[in-house]
Amino acid sequence: MSHEKIETNIGWMAILIAVVISFGGLAEIVPLMYQAEAIKPLPGVKPYDALALAGRDIYVREGCYNCHSQMVRTLRHETERYGHYSLAGESVYDRPFQWGSKRTGPDLARIGGRYSDDWHRVHLMNPRDLVPVSNMPAYPWLAEAPVSAKVVQRNMRALQRIGDPYTDEEIEGAAAAVAGKSELDALVHYLQGLGKQAPKG
Ligand code: HEC
Repeated sequence: MSHEKIETNIGWMAILIAVVISFGGLAEIVPLMYQAEAIKPLPGVKPYDALALAGRDIYVREGCYNCHSQMVRTLRHETERYGHYSLAGESVYDRPFQWGSKRTGPDLARIGGRYSDDWHRVHLMNPRDLVPVSNMPAYPWLAEAPVSAKVVQRNMRALQRIGDPYTDEEIEGAAAAVAGKSELDALVHYLQGLGKQAPKG
């Protein structure tokens, strides 16, 4: 088929463009699915414990990702501010991942340990008590809502089925681990773990 024919026929043009882009996509994406660096956890990276997993669900449910990313880019001003840039092997147990690009608030990939538990509690109950100019919403209901052991165990079982290395004992023990905990406890525990398994530097 001559060049002119393709360039003057929008049907052929569209089909061939789709073919070329698909090849490009395959060449870039498929190798990533097999690269150990991208699919194996970094040394020390473990699945979330029961309370953190519950906290993560609350993070997703409340839409924290609408204002916060969890991926430090490989740029100097990012690593100076947040710490080591994010690596794929840190998020193998994040389903779905929370990388994102929307940053009304700061990136949270390295927030663990930066503030005390009490700071997070006060901040989540009403951000303005600590940061007067903050436009982050308050989440006071989290302190009243209990964590459901049944839901956490069901989630752990589902994750185990798709390959996360939870043991049956861990799943059994989850009920005791979240007993008496509020959703606020769970969310703070989750936040305090973020970035703790990251490479240093
Ligand atoms: C409407 C946007 C918005 C939403 C939604 C939001 N935040 Fe924020 N967040 C901000 C802004 C802006 C700041 C910076 C001011 C402050 O510290 O309050 C912030 C700050 C933070 C900080 C402190 C970060 C630091 O490095 O100092 C944490 C932790 C945090 N948010 C957690 C959460 C969690 C957890 C949720 C969901 C329950 C959430 N945010 C939802 C906008 C938001």
